[in-house]
Amino acid sequence: MIVILDFGSQYSELIARRIRETQVYSEVLSYRTTAEQLRQLSPRGIILSGGPSSVYDPYAPQCDSQIWDLGIPVLGVCYGMQLMVKQLGGSVERAKQAEYGKASLFIDDPTDLLTNVEDGSTMWMSHGDSCTSLPEGFQVLAHTDNTPCAAIAHHERQLYGVQFHPEVVHSVDGIALIRNFVYHICDCEPTWTTEAFLEESIREIRAKVGDKRVLLALSGGVDSSTLAFLLHRAIGDQLTCMFIDQGFMRKGEPERLMEIFNERFHIKVEYVSARDRFLEKLVGVLDPEEKRRRIGHEFIRVFEEESRRLGPFDYLAQGTLYPDVIESADTNVDPQTGERVAVKIKSHHNVGGLPEDLQFKLVEPLRKLFKDEVRQLARTIGLPPEIVRRHPFPGPGLAIRIIGEVTAERLNILRDADFVVRDEIRKWDMYNDFWQAFAVLLPIHSVGVMGDQRTYAHPVVVRCVSSEDGMTADWSRAPYDLLEAISNRIVNEVKGVNRVVYDITSKPPGTIEWE
Ligand code: XMP
Repeated sequence: MIVILDFGSQYSELIARRIRETQVYSEVLSYRTTAEQLRQLSPRGIILSGGPSSVYDPYAPQCDSQIWDLGIPVLGVCYGMQLMVKQLGGSVERAKQAEYGKASLFIDDPTDLLTNVEDGSTMWMSHGDSCTSLPEGFQVLAHTDNTPCAAIAHHERQLYGVQFHPEVVHSVDGIALIRNFVYHICDCEPTWTTEAFLEESIREIRAKVGDKRVLLALSGGVDSSTLAFLLHRAIGDQLTCMFIDQGFMRKGEPERLMEIFNERFHIKVEYVSARDRFLEKLVGVLDPEEKRRRIGHEFIRVFEEESRRLGPFDYLAQGTLYPDVIESADTNVDPQTGERVAVKIKSHHNVGGLPEDLQFKLVEPLRKLFKDEVRQLARTIGLPPEIVRRHPFPGPGLAIRIIGEVTAERLNILRDADFVVRDEIRKWDMYNDFWQAFAVLLPIHSVGVMGDQRTYAHPVVVRCVSSEDGMTADWSRAPYDLLEAISNRIVNEVKGVNRVVYDITSKPPGTIEWE
């Protein structure tokens, strides 16, 4: 295992993912982790992440100074390297010129860390401070035009530092450098594979659950579906899946989900029809957050009632992923004042999320995995591609794509328009080109003409975006002919719609959803 000590960099998770791509397990821990704790964990290597602070800020995050003497190889990245230099007696100063973006790396010593890194190759820089003198025993491995100490090493102590970010895609040979650290310096074996994870989790689930019963709330998304497959493989019919149909899914989706699970894979799913209950709760509600709140609240009530009916259960399975676990890493201190600052705001509280005081013990077999690892596991475990590649879909579903009040009639309009969007992009074989592609129903009317008749009906917005993780997104340059086909079909096939507009706003400043 490689441990990444997080100093608040936006790239800490990315470092962890890059390490795992080399099939070596990695974990992100707080920079406060002590040398003693690390000794007990006995990782093969330690990486100190970058961070927003300057090592001279009065409350700059420091690592335990015993770390350098553990005999475990350390690689400091950006702030991590500056911290290493400062703590070991070198000096760091504000650089004459801050360096952001691409820089050519010129190699002075092509041994261990820089094997297979091409001289002059592009690396990604983002720093305001630079090392001006190195601690005793260190030497420069590489420089750039602006940064004399771009990569450094103390070979005997196996302490390394890089001023650039090898983990970002713009660093062309970054992954080669990471592989050198992981394999040649830390001597790791490529043991982190999906197959190994699968075997190990099945063993762990069986050992934990024994002969007890487990309940899982299935949403149809990739996380809960993978969880269902995994648990079913581990404990068979001791697992009960419950699907609560709130009535806000896309056309045909609940039926398809039941078919896939119950008939094709023989994983029994209890279908709970709650469409009317949810719709009643939304009468007269216009505010998006109030919609989310009421849907979330009703979900919990239905869940409690139904789990009582189907129970008793000992365990509740939850699809917690690794990013949810590391968000609690404690780096939220202002480096200038030492004050605690607000933690990164989580984008959304997932509807379908359950309160913590339920009387269940938890099984969370996915809590070590990143999202892309869940997809990989899903493929390995045999989930059909239509679930693995399904576009993200918000918990409150179509209810937050109907601007204004949600009624049965408006749900039908949106469901039909949304169906056309998805049907056309599938026909054009473009489903996998978009992160999400969907329709939004507006609460206004616009004038149109059909045949000789004046119409006065709703406009529908079509939104297609590309994104890596949903945190930022770009509006997709969908082909005009595809947009035309979508528009023609919607106005012709969906009663109540006479106009289609395309959303050309990126995130930020927009959001992906309209509510
Ligand atoms: P926004 O609209 O904030 O969406 O740019 C980012 C991603 O989150 C999804 N989303 C939600 N997911 N419950 C969810 O489970 C929600 O209330 C919710 N709102 C937005 C959205 O579809 C996109 O993928």
